[in-house]
Amino acid sequence: MIVKLENIYKSYGSVDVLKDISLNIEKDEILCILGPSGCGKSTLLNIISGLLQSDVGSVNRITDRIGYVFQEDRLLPWKTVYENIKFVEDKTPQKDVYKLIADIGLEGFENCFPHELSGGMRQRCSIARAFNYHSEFLLMDEPFKSLDYTLRIKMIGQLIKVWEKTSNSIIFVTHEIDEALLLGNKVIVLTNRPAQIAKTFEIKIKQSERKLSSKNLTEIRNEIIGLMIELNS
Ligand SMILES: Nc1ncnc2c1ncn2[C@@H]1O[C@H](COP(=O)(O)OP(=O)(O)OP(=O)(O)O)[C@@H](O)[C@H]1O
Ligand SMILES: [Mg+2]
Repeated sequence: MIVKLENIYKSYGSVDVLKDISLNIEKDEILCILGPSGCGKSTLLNIISGLLQSDVGSVNRITDRIGYVFQEDRLLPWKTVYENIKFVEDKTPQKDVYKLIADIGLEGFENCFPHELSGGMRQRCSIARAFNYHSEFLLMDEPFKSLDYTLRIKMIGQLIKVWEKTSNSIIFVTHEIDEALLLGNKVIVLTNRPAQIAKTFEIKIKQSERKLSSKNLTEIRNEIIGLMIELNS
């Protein structure tokens, strides 16, 4: 177990955001979180990371070596792509930083500053930065949202490779059911605000062997869609 949340409640003034959330994240596990816009997913990640306190409940973390890809990229505007990635783990050899940059498709943009990049390119740069930081626990808040379908699939493959190599734990927030189906060992579906856990799905197939068209994933996808429709009716 890397993080254990027990009975988390959070409100902003009169707005109740999280209601009685309990969950465990195991070592080597990818936990995906799906939920409607504004239900409290980013708030939950902020509480898990320790950036924000819950009103009620407890968070037990066995590591503080946390990587965080925020919903909005938080690149340092005065550093280049190369420098933004390098500075979080200064010991990484230059050639490995260049390899990371090539892997996320930003070859040739090493010396550009964030304002010279598109939204999707900035997002990929923050993902590479997270990959360069040797975290034990990685939080990713809709990291692939500004990417086109092909890039998205490529980045999912990349993330699986990094995860298999580093065997860290990942919490991955997304609105895309297929991303959750390809990545998650567990997929949690949240209700509308105040967010509660509506259901947790377990996917036992190894990530590298998953096919979206398989019977198993199709069944889970249909169940998730049915649940989401039910939650909104
Ligand atoms: N700092 C804050 N002060 C007041 N209200 C906030 C604050 N941060 C978030 N909220 C409110 O909490 C609720 C949940 O916000 P949050 O950003 O966690 O949602 P989300 O599920 O991540 O949404 P999205 O999918 O759009 O990113 C929203 O109603 C938002 O207005
Ligand atoms: Mg959010």
